[in-house]
Amino acid sequence: MLNRTFTPFPILTTERLTLRQLVINDEQEIFTLRSDSEINKYLDRQISNTIDDARNFINSVNENITKNDSLYWAITLSDSNKLVGTICLYGFSDENDNCEIGYELLTNFQGQGIMKEALEKVIDYAFNTVKVQKIEAFFHSDNQPSIKLLKKFSFRDLNKADETNHDLVSYHLTNPISNLK
Ligand SMILES: CC(C)(COP(=O)(O)OP(=O)(O)OC[C@H]1O[C@@H](n2cnc3c(N)ncnc32)[C@H](O)[C@@H]1OP(=O)(O)O)[C@@H](O)C(=O)NCCC(=O)NCCS
Repeated sequence: MLNRTFTPFPILTTERLTLRQLVINDEQEIFTLRSDSEINKYLDRQISNTIDDARNFINSVNENITKNDSLYWAITLSDSNKLVGTICLYGFSDENDNCEIGYELLTNFQGQGIMKEALEKVIDYAFNTVKVQKIEAFFHSDNQPSIKLLKKFSFRDLNKADETNHDLVSYHLTNPISNLK
């Protein structure tokens, strides 16, 4: 059984970063993340057209956290409260003890190792606090930055084509503790 109690919200910290809950004040950065064509190049999702869309998105994310359905962190540099990216855990399955992961960085904050630092902390949280046994990531097969990032953590390609979208690949990482059993 997974430990899915997301209230109070789990704030995570690393050497350079604070991962906190989204607030309405993040609307401009969320709007940029969800409307910028470069960031969304490989993402199959509803684009934000207005600041209202971004605000509604923030509200729905926080409702899902209240219901313990998913976790969604704003990634900030610890010396500033400004959102530079997001990282989320969602699609929890109590039956299969697994979940999915997603992440994105504003263009100006890419290429600095920020996501690697955030991902390491969130993987640790997923395995050691929520106690999932497997984390999955689905993304476009041409998304090389994402493949490069996940390979740093030894995520493996499941080589399992998505029947509804042949461009999607699926990578997974198994909890190392469960491997010792
Ligand atoms: C996927 C994504 C988050 C990867 O971002 P990224 O900036 O490449 O990843 P990191 O933050 O870990 O940075 C790694 C890079 O920083 C460099 N770097 C610089 N300083 C560093 C440091 N102190 N520590 C580690 N790496 C550092 C690394 O060498 C690496 O560069 P390289 O790719 O040229 O080798 C980004 O491409 C993105 O937001 N894409 C759009 C959204 C998306 O497609 N999400 C995936 C689907 S869920």
